[in-house]
Amino acid sequence: MLHGRRILLIVSGGIAAYKSLDLIRRLRARGATVRCILTAGAQQFITPLSASALSGEKAYTDLFSLTDESEMGHLRLAQESDLLVVAPASADLIAKMAGGLADDLASTALLATDKPILIAPAMNFRMWGHAATQQNIATLAQRGVTRVGPNAGPLAENESGMGRMAEPLEIVDAVEKIFRTGETLKGRRALITSGPTHEPIDPVRYIANRSSGKQGHAIAEALARLGADCTLVSGPTEEADPPGVKVIHVSTARDMQAACEAALPVDIAVCAAAVADWRAEAAPGKLKKKDGATPALKLVENPDILAGLSQPGNRRPRLVVGFAAETENVIANAKAKRLRKGCDWILANDVSASTGVFGGAQNTIHLIDADGVEDWPTLGKREIGDKLAQRIAAFLIVKAAE
Ligand code: C5P
Repeated sequence: MLHGRRILLIVSGGIAAYKSLDLIRRLRARGATVRCILTAGAQQFITPLSASALSGEKAYTDLFSLTDESEMGHLRLAQESDLLVVAPASADLIAKMAGGLADDLASTALLATDKPILIAPAMNFRMWGHAATQQNIATLAQRGVTRVGPNAGPLAENESGMGRMAEPLEIVDAVEKIFRTGETLKGRRALITSGPTHEPIDPVRYIANRSSGKQGHAIAEALARLGADCTLVSGPTEEADPPGVKVIHVSTARDMQAACEAALPVDIAVCAAAVADWRAEAAPGKLKKKDGATPALKLVENPDILAGLSQPGNRRPRLVVGFAAETENVIANAKAKRLRKGCDWILANDVSASTGVFGGAQNTIHLIDADGVEDWPTLGKREIGDKLAQRIAAFLIVKAAE
């Protein structure tokens, strides 16, 4: 399955381009989102309209289209994908890749990415057999580019031989295999808290906060993409349940704590929820206005879920990660919080109103562990989820080797 995977499909020129339309359909049927770039050559065989109709996304064609550039730079197009698939990969585009050329949108995206690349070559058998092409293929293999096909069989112009593009189903299998080999958290269990909690004041009113759940949900999804068996305990949010993640919906801090306890044991716990520190001693019936009197709320402290999970004992997760949403002295407060809560890592972020972190798409993280502070650049919340998941996987691999 390819749920939550973002694929950038680059279609170059060749009669096999018509099969790419079927490929888009099959990738989407497995749950992937697909964006397409069509080279000028590809557009001789298929249209951007058919690619965008099948992918449900805009199809990109020209590096120098000003509207494309303002909407989404070509660098972002590649970086916002998990995998680049070139199908069909023409001899010409393969040569450009090998030579590091960047003279159109497709070749520029391929040069400007550090994401994995899969190519499905398709060409005349003489072109495939040519020493230049074979050398280019060897160069790409050396650089870690994965290849599927070409296959032997009938080719265009009544010829036959090695050069047919792999069938769409074979390409989908190759795509799934690439993602499976990246599952460095396979066999690990993870618990993630996300979103706000709602603490009732009476049956109709509650205390809440501005957490959107975007970051916690993105972390759960990223851990699941690396193969972790994830339980996400989520307070009330607008966010959709992430694919491939077991989601438990809760409302109050105490419900959240109970759901977390029930999910143990786990290897990894990431507490990203903005749990209300206090709950009101809730009134059994709706509070009424009485002769101008203002009711006083009596607040009671909520359980600290992160501190509870961090307590030493045989049920303690191997790695416990907390968040510190601060508005001043971010690092100093977060360091103190790590020690107070007993967790292994704290991800500190500045949530002053001016940063737009609460509910926004981006975040600037400082990872604090026993060794010190690691400053991350400002990234999208999904990219932060991926970076944290990679960091967790690397940590557990090192620990396992010790
Ligand atoms: O103390 P503070 O709320 O600033 O701590 C933030 C961290 O503690 C977050 O990781 C949050 O998920 C967690 N937390 C918790 N239970 C609480 C309060 C905070 O798990 N009651």
